[in-house]
Amino acid sequence: MKLPRNFYRPLALGAPEPYRELPTRLERMIHFIPPHIAKVRAKVPEIVREVDVLLGNLEDAIPADAKEAARAGFIEMVQSIDFGSTGLWVRINALNSPWMLDDVLSIVAAVGHKLDVVMLPKVEGPWDIHYLDQLLAQLEARHCIGRPILIHAILETAEGVKNVNDIAAASPRLHGMSLGPADLAASRGMKTTRVGGGHPDYRVLADRGAEGTVRASAQQDPWHYTIARMVDACQANGIKAFYGPFGDFADEEACESQFRNAFLLGCAGAWTLHPSQIAIAKRVFSPDEKEVAFARRILEAMPDGTGAVMIDGKMQDDATWKQAKVIVDLARAVAA
Ligand code: GLV
Ligand code: MG
Repeated sequence: MKLPRNFYRPLALGAPEPYRELPTRLERMIHFIPPHIAKVRAKVPEIVREVDVLLGNLEDAIPADAKEAARAGFIEMVQSIDFGSTGLWVRINALNSPWMLDDVLSIVAAVGHKLDVVMLPKVEGPWDIHYLDQLLAQLEARHCIGRPILIHAILETAEGVKNVNDIAAASPRLHGMSLGPADLAASRGMKTTRVGGGHPDYRVLADRGAEGTVRASAQQDPWHYTIARMVDACQANGIKAFYGPFGDFADEEACESQFRNAFLLGCAGAWTLHPSQIAIAKRVFSPDEKEVAFARRILEAMPDGTGAVMIDGKMQDDATWKQAKVIVDLARAVAA
């Protein structure tokens, strides 16, 4: 059995038995499209070459009277397009909605053999994952689908955040988890109408200066706490964490900064809702060349991953060797 990708203990020291293999696909952006719009579907063959993952959205942002058209449009699109090595995902409607059951039944029956991941919104606890897990197992058996369709949970309710560790451990079918900042803001009673990103009033002030001086302030990231909890829960269970949507398409700088916070904290990718965000995600979730060059020097300076060396005046040891390996492994995956 292969070692999980996040197991970085040097082989020379002997590796314990891994408990499961991790998904190795590069998934820097999950690109959302509304499949009920024919004009959008027509552009998919082109978009598919640009993105790591293409997702057909059936849930929020699709009007109630277009739910069936979105489902049918998704099936038609999947049947008529070659996705090559691009990941193919669908976001179904919530478990308690009138559409969810038909979403799963009809999509798995029609295109289950091409589908990689079902994204499940508003996951509150492991019981939600168990339900979809069993349903997918039944449908895979019925339709003779030879490889498991994975589940991706959206973390977007206060109850879900409370149960994040149990959700991450709920099933070997779990691919990963995404932060859903819009629904989570509503669920928590946060006072914002934004979809992700910062808020000008969520900031700290510098200490009071002399009379008449302007007090400096810096905006804080309101999503830091949840992203960090989600990353810990995911990494502890061998699955991937993702930042979700950034709604202000015109502010590319702010989008990049939110994505970068998530990348630095351990996320593998983010959602892109607008084509302009694809290049941003690609740039942010691929490691910086200078970082990669420095990380390679650490690995070369400590071939068996142990000991301590100084590089450019900075101390390196077993722990920084593991940090360097995270960056070099990602650079290799990007180059492959
Ligand atoms: C995504 O679904 C969100 O609610 O932010
Ligand atoms: Mg949501």
